[in-house]
Amino acid sequence: MTSTFLLIGHLILLIPLFSAEECIVCDYFVLVGEPTAISCPVITLPALHSDYNMTWYKNGSNTPITTEKHARIHVRKGLLWFIPATLEDSGLYECEVRGLNRSNQKTINLKVFKNDNGLCFNGKMKYEQVVNSANIGNIICPDLENFKDEDNVKPEVHWYKECKPGFLEDKRFVLAEGENAVLIHNVSVQDKGNYTCRMVYTYMGKQYNVSRTMSLVVKESPLQMRPEFIYPKNNTIEVELGSHVVMECNVSSGINSLIPYWEVNDGYVDDFDSTYREQFYEKGMPHGITVAGTKFNISKVKVKDYAYKFFCHFIYESQQFTSYIKLEPPAQNIQGYLIGGGVSLVFLVFVTLIIYKIFKIDIVLWYRNSCHPFLGEKASDGKIYDAYVLYPKNRESCLYSSDIFALKILPEVLERQCGYNLFIFGRNDLPGEAVISIADEKIRQSRRVIVILVPEPSCYSILEDASEKHLAMYNALIQDGIKVILIELEKIHDYTNMPESIKYIKQKYGAIRWKGDFSERSHSASTRFWKKVRYHMPSRKRGSSSGFHLLP
Ligand SMILES: *[C@@H]1O[C@H](CO)[C@@H](O)[C@H](O)[C@H]1NC(C)=O
Ligand SMILES: *[C@@H]1O[C@H](CO)[C@@H](O)[C@H](O)[C@H]1NC(C)=O
Ligand SMILES: *[C@@H]1O[C@H](CO)[C@@H](O)[C@H](O)[C@H]1NC(C)=O
Ligand SMILES: *[C@@H]1O[C@H](CO)[C@@H](O)[C@H](O)[C@H]1NC(C)=O
Ligand SMILES: *[C@@H]1O[C@H](CO)[C@@H](O)[C@H](O)[C@H]1NC(C)=O
Ligand SMILES: *[C@@H]1O[C@H](CO)[C@@H](O)[C@H](O)[C@H]1NC(C)=O
Ligand SMILES: *[C@@H]1O[C@H](CO)[C@@H](O)[C@H](O)[C@H]1NC(C)=O
Ligand SMILES: *[C@@H]1O[C@H](CO)[C@@H](O)[C@H](O)[C@H]1NC(C)=O
Ligand SMILES: *[C@@H]1O[C@H](CO)[C@@H](O)[C@H](O)[C@H]1NC(C)=O
Repeated sequence: MTSTFLLIGHLILLIPLFSAEECIVCDYFVLVGEPTAISCPVITLPALHSDYNMTWYKNGSNTPITTEKHARIHVRKGLLWFIPATLEDSGLYECEVRGLNRSNQKTINLKVFKNDNGLCFNGKMKYEQVVNSANIGNIICPDLENFKDEDNVKPEVHWYKECKPGFLEDKRFVLAEGENAVLIHNVSVQDKGNYTCRMVYTYMGKQYNVSRTMSLVVKESPLQMRPEFIYPKNNTIEVELGSHVVMECNVSSGINSLIPYWEVNDGYVDDFDSTYREQFYEKGMPHGITVAGTKFNISKVKVKDYAYKFFCHFIYESQQFTSYIKLEPPAQNIQGYLIGGGVSLVFLVFVTLIIYKIFKIDIVLWYRNSCHPFLGEKASDGKIYDAYVLYPKNRESCLYSSDIFALKILPEVLERQCGYNLFIFGRNDLPGEAVISIADEKIRQSRRVIVILVPEPSCYSILEDASEKHLAMYNALIQDGIKVILIELEKIHDYTNMPESIKYIKQKYGAIRWKGDFSERSHSASTRFWKKVRYHMPSRKRGSSSGFHLLP
């Protein structure tokens, strides 16, 4: 009973069955041929004691209606019964309640109606019931309390929608046994309509139908909106290392019991970092929408914050919903670093190359000096001389002291200071030996050929001393791989008059120009010129090189 009263709280009745004092003349309806039991509206007044007499009268009659149970119209348990009602029963009835000291009376109006043509109900005689969409709703078959069987067994209720049975086959509809109601899960707008319930009432061995028709109204309520993440939406955001980020997750819904929460690395964010301090909030929005949110501050983004996805969860209808956000370092900056790194690398290589270009000779010489002792003796190549020196012999017509250079300065530096072993044509050769055969042999025994050039072609002793055969011979040697070092004693602008082989050598190896004087004073092996020469000379184990600055 209690639960029935609770359910009745949901009802808006077109028919004010229990409207009590509010109605002056209270209306009652009954389908023709069906039984009905009418209670006197004043009976609910609490002032009445159990010790009272109730009397029913037909309008205008002083004769109380009988309490004889077999009569079609009778009074039983204070109720006025019509079993069943006929069309002629329509009209006014009075009930009078008489206690010891006071009495009260009410008039009720009974309307006995017929069903609409072809329908199981009358469109004007309906109970209106309202349910919210997307929610659980119920349809109640009202006012059946008085129609218990004589055995006090709850009667079976049959249900119809638009006068057709079978709608209960939809799993969303569940009969609420004992409550004369139907539960509807996930109410949709399509559920609106005319529902009729019918039960069979047996009285005095006769069966009667008792039916009610409810007009179900489905209200589409924003309150029942499914919860949705506003933010995040499985997205990635770029944040700078060390920057401040407010991590906010919010969910919009029609209910206010959602509690979203953050998780990272399979734990709460506050466990991940105690400075985060997650905070829950909830705020109402227009149209009955509630936004539930949770947020925390990352006051300084750390590297570990880039490593995990931050998951925001909430539970709705025992289901977990998840959306995540991932922090990433800004892409442009990475690109920037890469480009910057690339540029500086290229720049570094460039600078290194320039430095190498400028200091190549010094580096190679330093390397030879510092590293060679440790590299061990070079395998002997079977050669005697480090260089074979060819120079134009001084003639009266020549202004150049090529003799001094070749016979004094060159040996002073390369032989005495640097420890090279030179074959100088015109110094080491024995007079009378055949020039060609000596040159041939000595060049083969040398690792380099040093050719000293002067600008005046007339001075060329090479041409003078050596025949075409001589030149052809050392051309061949050049092709054998012997390196040639050209030393210009003065800038030579024009090589056109030089022999072909000299032109070739100049083109292939270039020339080193002497810039010093021709005095016989000591020349330092560490001047630029001599460094260049030494660079082109074969590397040499340390020997007499210790005396770089020996005085003459
Ligand atoms: C009710 O009616 C009975 C007899 O009809 C009478 O004896 C009794 O006193 C009445 N009670 C009251 C409260 O009027
Ligand atoms: C009720 O009774 C009064 C007086 O007897 C009469 O005038 C009136 O018409 C009746 N009303 C109905 C609806 O029967
Ligand atoms: C009835 O009225 C009398 C006097 O008016 C009063 O004393 C008595 O208590 C009343 N009885 C009830 C049951 O109200
Ligand atoms: C309910 O019945 C009324 C007639 O009383 C009808 O006009 C209406 O269309 C019905 N509702 C539905 C949903 O069929
Ligand atoms: C109600 O709807 C939800 C979501 O659409 C579904 O999971 C659930 O099974 C439905 N309930 C019934 C009884 O159909
Ligand atoms: C009750 O109603 C049903 C369906 O309308 C009908 O088949 C049956 O005969 C009725 N019973 C009585 C006793 O009127
Ligand atoms: C939800 O969170 C986002 C991201 O922080 C924020 O921009 C938005 O204003 C929030 N929405 C509401 C209604 O609080
Ligand atoms: C998070 O940072 C905002 C400023 O962006 C500040 O107003 C708020 O108080 C901070 N919250 C916490 C818990 O530190
Ligand atoms: C977001 O990711 C979570 C878990 O990775 C997943 O369950 C969810 O369906 C995703 N949501 C969307 C809109 O892709």
